[in-house]
Amino acid sequence: MKVILVNGSPRAAGCTYTGLTIIKEQLSQNGVDSEIYQVGNKPVAGCIACLSCKKTGKCVFDNDLVNTVAEELRKAEGIVLGSAVHFASATGAATSFFDRLFYSVGFDTIKMKFGASIVSCRRGGASATFDQLNKYFTIAQMPIVSSCYWNQIHGYTPEDVYKDEEGVHTLRVLANNMAYLIKCKAAANIPLPEEPPRVRTNFIR
Ligand SMILES: Cc1cc2nc3c(=O)[nH]c(=O)nc-3n(C[C@H](O)[C@H](O)[C@H](O)COP(=O)(O)O)c2cc1C
Repeated sequence: MKVILVNGSPRAAGCTYTGLTIIKEQLSQNGVDSEIYQVGNKPVAGCIACLSCKKTGKCVFDNDLVNTVAEELRKAEGIVLGSAVHFASATGAATSFFDRLFYSVGFDTIKMKFGASIVSCRRGGASATFDQLNKYFTIAQMPIVSSCYWNQIHGYTPEDVYKDEEGVHTLRVLANNMAYLIKCKAAANIPLPEEPPRVRTNFIR
């Protein structure tokens, strides 16, 4: 059982990373493996809408971790998207990375895998960013794992994060809930729900 943790912050060992580390430790206590991918500390190309991924199943840009994380996500039970809050939104790198990841991965390959988002801010914009990140799951038939509060931590340094005791508690509960749901799904061991033929109300042929 494995969960992919993605750090979309530019700071490889900053607050978002600290939050993901708290989740990693708590998952481990529940017997669930996880791995943190650092993706936000270099320029990340945005989606250029070339639609190449619809033919190849891979993003056309193979010079960052998008295709690696996609491959790992297909094998994993869940994913946690992490981002610092920049101007009340996810970071530019996180947005570019997650757009390309979710557009290229193939929704049928990640259906019913569990998703969660965490955001780190100094003061404001956490809810808007949290909502933004959760949109990736709700278009992909991925159940969102929740906690006892919205998954936000506050601070400017990793030390600040530990002072946000309610934030730390929220992330620990989130990890416990993620592990619980992964085990429930494994125990149920039933086929994924069938989907009626797709209908698209737009102009894509
Ligand atoms: C370009 C930029 C924009 C930021 N915008 C916000 C913001 O809108 N709201 C906020 O509370 N903090 C903002 N911050 C502060 C960070 O979000 C905050 O310190 C966060 O916890 C840092 O996480 P990190 O260490 O993982 O990068 C901003 C920081 C930067 C560099």
